[in-house]
Amino acid sequence: MPRIAYVNGAYVRHSEATVHVEDRGYQFADGVYEVCEVRHGFIVDLGRHLDRLDRSLNELRIASPMSRAALVQVLREVLRRNRVRNGLFYLQVTRGVARRDHVFPAKDTPPSIVVTAKRTDAAAIARKNAEGISAITVPENRWDRVDIKTVGLLPNVLARQRAKEQGAQEAIFVDADGTVKEGAATNVWIVDGDGILRTRPSEHGILRGITRTTLLDVARILGLKLEERAFSVEEMFAAREVFITAATSICFPVVTIDGTSIGNGRPGNIARNIRDAFFAVAEKTLI
Ligand code: PDD
Repeated sequence: MPRIAYVNGAYVRHSEATVHVEDRGYQFADGVYEVCEVRHGFIVDLGRHLDRLDRSLNELRIASPMSRAALVQVLREVLRRNRVRNGLFYLQVTRGVARRDHVFPAKDTPPSIVVTAKRTDAAAIARKNAEGISAITVPENRWDRVDIKTVGLLPNVLARQRAKEQGAQEAIFVDADGTVKEGAATNVWIVDGDGILRTRPSEHGILRGITRTTLLDVARILGLKLEERAFSVEEMFAAREVFITAATSICFPVVTIDGTSIGNGRPGNIARNIRDAFFAVAEKTLI
């Protein structure tokens, strides 16, 4: 069965899915995206993901490519055509195709939209949850508007690559003031020595992760002690547990950072309890 992508109004074979060479996403990273989990035949937290997409588009003054109802239809169709019941969809919208010029193109230039979907490797995810992952720290070097989910991800790409070359799976950005920002493609959480769950406030300096937002709901439901507060890199190393969250990973325990063990060096209970409760709390949209 061939993989299918949606590109600007057509469902096409993934291997033949292309955009124009002067797409502004390609030339300027002038676009935004969303990645959303699909589990047991349900799209997870679709409403929150589409709300964030609208916000990203508004912040960059890119027009919506279609109504929300039409977009949901496209997403469902791509998932169905690819027979994805456990996996992800990727949705990208750019400012469209125009002769290369930094300023915005003519107002009637239609935005470009691409949707792809893939199955995920459940065994690999289970292994990461059971064993935990390694991370490294890297200095924050991104622009100020990381709250917008743009496709301009070069610092994130370089940070992840550096992690990989050091045998780790995630790179954690640390601000010049010594506080932890977020991972290259994840939000970061700690459980401190008093058992308090901490994550950085999302008003500024990080992406407001959808998994993060739903995990805050989960933590409240589980009655965990919770504080949205920036924490230092030293607090992270002294934590009982560290974990990272994203639609691609939900909640991976981090057991080593820069070669140093976190807590007892094993995945912690709080990460596991949160992960176990996550799907029941999240919004579920049937494909
Ligand atoms: N990344 N922070 C950054 C920088 C991210 O790129 C992501 C997600 C997150 C977590 O957001 P969410 O919980 O909404 O997935 C935080 C996606 C998965 C990616 O780039 O593949």
